[in-house]
Amino acid sequence: MPRPAVPELAPEDLARRLDDGEPVQVLDIRAAERLAAGRVTLGERLAFKNVTGSTLYALPDLGGLGLDPGAPVAVICGHGNSSQRATLFLRERGITAFSVTGGMAAWEKIVVPRRLAPPPGMSDLVQMDRVGKGALGYVLASDGEAVILDPGRHLEPYAAVLRDLGATPRAVVDTHAHADYLSGAGAAARRWGIPYFLHEADTRSPFDDTPGRLPVRAVGDGDVIAFGRTTLRVEHTPGHTLGSITLVAAGGVAFTGDFVFVQSIGRPDLGGRAAEWGPILWRSFERARREWPGDRLVLPAHYAAENERGADRTVGARMEAIQRENPAFRIADADEFARWIARTPPPPESYRTIKLANIGLLDVSDADAEILEAGANQCAAG
Ligand SMILES: [Fe+2]
Repeated sequence: MPRPAVPELAPEDLARRLDDGEPVQVLDIRAAERLAAGRVTLGERLAFKNVTGSTLYALPDLGGLGLDPGAPVAVICGHGNSSQRATLFLRERGITAFSVTGGMAAWEKIVVPRRLAPPPGMSDLVQMDRVGKGALGYVLASDGEAVILDPGRHLEPYAAVLRDLGATPRAVVDTHAHADYLSGAGAAARRWGIPYFLHEADTRSPFDDTPGRLPVRAVGDGDVIAFGRTTLRVEHTPGHTLGSITLVAAGGVAFTGDFVFVQSIGRPDLGGRAAEWGPILWRSFERARREWPGDRLVLPAHYAAENERGADRTVGARMEAIQRENPAFRIADADEFARWIARTPPPPESYRTIKLANIGLLDVSDADAEILEAGANQCAAG
C-alpha cells in the first residue's frame, strides 16, 4: 500500500510565519539532549512543545500535549524523516500538522533577509538573519556595487539578495575569524572573484600562532573599503579576537561584528587566551563607550534572544539605547569586568575546530559542518 503523502512545510515558510507572529505551534520530537544543543526560538508568539516520537505514539490521547486545536502544528526532527510519521499520526487524530522539510539541519541553514533604511551613500542595507544560529550577515549596496559582511557557508540567500538588488559584489569582509560558524567569505571571494578582507591578526591560529592558509587581503585600523559612491572605515576593536574590527559607514552606522551586541558584548575566551584577551577587550570597550557617538547605529553579527530585535524585527540599536540597556555598559571597572567575563559558561568544544577551519588550517566536510555548527551561537559574554 503506498504511504499517504505527508503535508510538508519548508523551513523558510515556517520562519516567515513565526516572524510574522502567526499562531504556528512547533512540536519538536527530538530527545531532550538534542534540544539542549539548539531548537527553534524565532518569534515572540512562538508556542514550542517537545515530546519524543516514541512517547507521542504511546499516548492514549493528545490532550496532554496542550496543543491549540485552532492553530497548525509544525513537526520538526533532526533531518525531516521521523517528523513525517509524527505528522501523519497527528493528522489521523484531526490535527492540522506539517512536517518541516529537512528538519533542524535545514532550519539552521536558512536566512531571513530584512531591509533596513540605508545610510547616506548606500542604496540598500539588508540584514541577513540566520535565525537558527542568531547570526547576522549583511549585504550593502551603493550604485550597483555591493559588499558582503560575515556570510555563512550557504551563499544562495546572498546570491538571491544580490540578484534582487541588481548589485555586483565588490568585496567580502569578515569582521573577525568566527568561532561559531564556518565562514562563507572564502567561497564568496572565489565565486564572485572579489577580495576577502580580514584583519591581519585574525589570519593566524590563536592557539599556536600557525599562519592560516587563506587568500585574504589584510586590513587594519583606519583603512577604507570603497564601493559604489561610499566607503566603510575600519576601526580595530580587538578583544573578542585580536583582529576584531568594526566597520563604520557614513551616517553613523557601525557594523560591530562580535564586539558590541545589543544586549552584551563578544566574549574574549574563544581563542583559549582569556587572560590575555580579556584586558584587551576591556580597553576596546572602554574606548567605545567613551568615544562612540550616541546616535551611532550598532548592527552586530549576533544576537542571543528575541528581545534584541526592534519593532521591524531587525537586530540593532543606537549607542544611546545600548548605553542604557546593555548590562555590560553598567560595569564600572576592569576588575568588575573580569569577574563578569569569568561567569561566561564554557564554549562548545566545536568552536576550536571551527576557528581552525575558518583560517584554512582544517578541511571540514558538509556533514561535519552541520554537526559542528549545530545550535545557537554562544559568542556573548556574561
Ligand atoms: Fe565571533
